[in-house]
Amino acid sequence: MYTAPRGTHDILPEEWPYWRYVINNIHETAALFGFEQIDTPIFETTSLYIRGVGEGTDIVDKEMYSFQDKGGEEITLRPEFTAGVMRAYLEHGMRVRPQPVKLYSIGPIFRFERPQAGRYRQHHQFNVEVIGEQDPAVDAEVISVAWHLFKRLGFRGLSLQINSTGCPKCRPGYLKELVAYYRQHENEICDDCKRRLERNPLRVLDCKNEQCQPVIAGAPHITDYLCDDCKAHFAGLRAHLDAIGLSYTVNHRLVRGLDYYTKTVFEVYAEGIGAQNAVCGGGRYDGLIEELGGPPTPGIGFGSGIERQILTMKEQGIEPPSLPKPKLFVAHVGEATHVEAFRLTMKLREAGLSALYGFGNRSLRSQMKSANRAGARFALILGEDEIAQGVVTVRDLEASTQEAVPRDQIIAWLQDKLLFGAPSGA
Ligand code: HAM
Repeated sequence: MYTAPRGTHDILPEEWPYWRYVINNIHETAALFGFEQIDTPIFETTSLYIRGVGEGTDIVDKEMYSFQDKGGEEITLRPEFTAGVMRAYLEHGMRVRPQPVKLYSIGPIFRFERPQAGRYRQHHQFNVEVIGEQDPAVDAEVISVAWHLFKRLGFRGLSLQINSTGCPKCRPGYLKELVAYYRQHENEICDDCKRRLERNPLRVLDCKNEQCQPVIAGAPHITDYLCDDCKAHFAGLRAHLDAIGLSYTVNHRLVRGLDYYTKTVFEVYAEGIGAQNAVCGGGRYDGLIEELGGPPTPGIGFGSGIERQILTMKEQGIEPPSLPKPKLFVAHVGEATHVEAFRLTMKLREAGLSALYGFGNRSLRSQMKSANRAGARFALILGEDEIAQGVVTVRDLEASTQEAVPRDQIIAWLQDKLLFGAPSGA
């Protein structure tokens, strides 16, 4: 027996009310904030991610699904949206459009991670990017897109954490201090942090290892080392968040796992899905477009895991609305009626009435059972008598009544009943 690959999931029919609910709310939220949708391929040239996300990050070093395709191209399954969206922004000359360009996407993301609750090898993200504007109001707007969505979905216990990671002007000064501090504590830290110190020192702040916690607690804060520009930007972000009453905590340890971030970084957590599982993470990446060969262009965005949003709904007992089911079931009695009943079923659908057809040679009783199980409101029964008399027997499965309706009036009759909803005969 085959099973789905480790860390991947089938989205079964019973899961779809959650998915539809989340996705509908995403589209509505994006529209409310004036975002336009973009879809990029689920694979890109490998070097795009190496340049964009950065060597030394977990994503590039350990997690990419990379392979050579049959034409010899080096390909990687999308491990995040941002690099691909920036490639599209450049490729399609979007800088001549009114700036900022506000884009959102929904789709699968692939990372070779150790699967656990809320962490998968294929997950789906709602991703947002705003390109071409450095006003800190943009940062506040991007954060509020996520916040608004989560509020709309009914999440409780939301918390927003923000930090600034500085820029190429001020970050090196901070890293020097951070590394010097860590050198004094080299015997107290884990082996991973010793490696991080060499390859990607900022990430030591993100270590989850127990033994490193006291060292992290005493580490210098990057916000004390920001240049005037970054300092003003961070103050601007906070002023805008304060103005809209969006409360946050400044988390000096928040550094995020991708190399492109500059200035603002943020994460949102929701009650119920574990303190290690952010429901949203993002930040500013003012150097990324240049890194990918474009002109200096600021940008900011976030990604939010749809599986984690659904997990939050389940943990918090939030029920999505159920999806519509076929309202009609067409049953037939006697072999000669099959084709006629099939034709009637198609006519109903063409008139916009959702209908199921009773396949095979089953008894009326068994077809009625199927109709009930499917949750249909009316069963339409065609036997030889009905065909001879030009009628359809309509059984109201809610009211347990039945009546003969002339065949040429059946659609209007059903539209009327289904629209006004009262059981027939009531
Ligand atoms: P990220 O923090 O790597 O950022 O992922 C964004 C979100 O995707 C996470 O907060 C989480 O909700 C979800 N997520 C990540 N990995 C997994 C996984 N293995 N299983 C389930 N859910 C997961 C980015 O990807 C950046 N590109 C976000 C961004 C956009 N920054 C600027 N623009």
